[in-house]
Amino acid sequence: MPAAVAADGPSALPSPFSASRPWTVLAPMQDVTNLGFLRVIARCGAPDWFVTEFFRVHATSTLEKHILASITENTTGRPIFAQLIGEDIPHMVRTVRQLLQFPVAGIDLNLGCPAPKVYRKNVGGGLLRDLAHVDQLLAALRAATPGLFTVKMRIGFDDTAAFPDFLALMRQHRVDLLSVHGRTVKGLYRSPVDYAAIAQAAQSVACPVVANGDITSAAKAQTVVAQTGCAGLMIGRHAIRNPWIFRQIHEAFAGEKIFQPTLSDVRSYIDDLAANVLAPDMTPLRQAARLKKFLNFVGTGVDPEGNFLAAMRRAPDLPELLRVCDAHLLAGDRANRPFSSEPFQGVIARPNCEQECSL
Ligand SMILES: Cc1cc2nc3c(=O)[nH]c(=O)nc-3n(C[C@H](O)[C@H](O)[C@H](O)COP(=O)(O)O)c2cc1C
Repeated sequence: MPAAVAADGPSALPSPFSASRPWTVLAPMQDVTNLGFLRVIARCGAPDWFVTEFFRVHATSTLEKHILASITENTTGRPIFAQLIGEDIPHMVRTVRQLLQFPVAGIDLNLGCPAPKVYRKNVGGGLLRDLAHVDQLLAALRAATPGLFTVKMRIGFDDTAAFPDFLALMRQHRVDLLSVHGRTVKGLYRSPVDYAAIAQAAQSVACPVVANGDITSAAKAQTVVAQTGCAGLMIGRHAIRNPWIFRQIHEAFAGEKIFQPTLSDVRSYIDDLAANVLAPDMTPLRQAARLKKFLNFVGTGVDPEGNFLAAMRRAPDLPELLRVCDAHLLAGDRANRPFSSEPFQGVIARPNCEQECSL
């Protein structure tokens, strides 16, 4: 494990646990990757590091307390990078300086959020339309960050024409690590992932590249590493569905037997989620809505007909929602059934659960 982080950030990337496998990273997800969820994931088999959901930066922004808690109260034993979204250079630099007072593993810049209300403000994925501004922003953030400075980007806005130019900027500004979600901003979350573009990034930048997008299982992880030559794998929605995915990837690359969860393990995971991601002062209705956000993804791996997803979406409150979970995951001989390592084709999480970025 990396040692405690110095006040100005570490100067080296966390060591991989074994040179024979790529790094694993939990993708930042707004309203999902909070402190409680990180703890749940760590118990199932932690990735090598975490990234906070984005801190919004603008003229009057302050560090959001609940996001800061994922840094200051991080007891997972894994480092966490702080992600920023914004375009105002002086305020981005101010926020970096504030964040460097806390035990962050490094600073990560969001160049990918595709929500229209975000990109219309020329932040997140919107910045991929403005090479000149990204040039200045990278220069300023690099100068402000003595430790690790990383970027998470998509491969373009409408198309990939400017991707090589953005990659050249990553080299020029000595970015320490680049995570590439292999879709354009307009591709949102469902267009096919362009792994060739991720391979192109891995070949052209000077730093390690982390591949992101639709890494659904340990088997897919091995394919993506072979296809892209990436140094690491970042996983978002499929870690919500299958919180053991990092453990399974580590086992696969070590040539060990891969852990096979049962539906009973999934039921225990849901209890752990309920205990860690729901605030006690929420109404049962609000608690149900929050837990459903996670179950939307879990449900894509429970049954090929999508019966669990349909039933859980109808549950009006938390007690009823947990009864639905019991019925679909424990009743009869279900408890010992294996939990699918891949999501079932045609059983999909609600699109609005994947686009809820707000600024
Ligand atoms: C609910 C949700 C919230 C997200 N929030 C962020 C965010 O705060 N910062 C970011 O860089 N990406 C965010 N993303 C994008 C993910 O980090 C990741 O790039 C994307 O989901 C593709 O990876 P996957 O196929 O493994 O899910 C979000 C994705 C989802 C589904």
